[in-house]
Amino acid sequence: MHISRSVGDLRKHVAALKQQGKKIGLVPTMGALHEGHLSLIRLARKHSDAVVVTAFVNPTQFGPEEDFDRYPRSQSHDMHACETEGVEIFFMPPVEEMYPSTSHIGFTINTLDEHLCGATRPHHFPGVIQVVNKLFNMVQPDVAVFGQKDIQQYKILERMRDEFAHPVELIRAPIVRDSDGLALSSRNAYLTPEQRSKAPMLYQALHYVGMRIQKGDTHLINLIEDRKKTLTENGFQVDYLQCVDEEELQPVSEPEPGQNYIVAGAVYLGATRLIDNIIVEASDRVK
Ligand code: PAF
Repeated sequence: MHISRSVGDLRKHVAALKQQGKKIGLVPTMGALHEGHLSLIRLARKHSDAVVVTAFVNPTQFGPEEDFDRYPRSQSHDMHACETEGVEIFFMPPVEEMYPSTSHIGFTINTLDEHLCGATRPHHFPGVIQVVNKLFNMVQPDVAVFGQKDIQQYKILERMRDEFAHPVELIRAPIVRDSDGLALSSRNAYLTPEQRSKAPMLYQALHYVGMRIQKGDTHLINLIEDRKKTLTENGFQVDYLQCVDEEELQPVSEPEPGQNYIVAGAVYLGATRLIDNIIVEASDRVK
């Protein structure tokens, strides 16, 4: 595995792989790799001949009060994990390499970031677009893999790919969960044992709402309010629990039969923010 810390070096090594006729798969991450990330790498491997993993905690997608400084960093663990997975290039640039000068160009997202995480983290998706756009230009991959856990990110990146005409296929990887249902996340490392034992309640709430939609329930407002109340009573601070349509990510209170919906939630347990979602198809009658 080649370890690259500069854009020039990255480009040189990717070019060499391309010259050998290899299809390039990109897995952008912020490091602190866990089984969820490894599943992305394995999926990239299935769809390409050479895998490039990037590990960069991108400062521009964190707000001033957020956890940029304390975000888990584990470079030697990450390198070892990628090596074991047979990754060809591991890119871990310093901040100055990704942002050599003050940026004069920003990104605006319409509609897709009005709700869910975008509502309380307005700086977040413009920062994600900025860094992924750079990574796409630096690597020029054939395919890029992102996890469903960040479903709003995935939807926005799909639109970015189309609108900026990046010739890359995006692949959405399913969420990897612990045996009790908790979605794997680098931020789970912040949880105390007591918080960790409560954390699967987020997934349980989403699962319940999803199950009702699948059974044809069209009165989601009370259903969702009840779930939020249960979470709050158990020590969660609920940022949102919402059902949105799959295309524009707009809130839906009466799902239409045959349509797919995203049921998504974000909660705080102490200072730790957890997100999760499921995608369900609405049925036409209450069962
Ligand atoms: O999903 C993430 O880990 C990050 O948002 C990404 C896509 C690597 C951009 O920094």
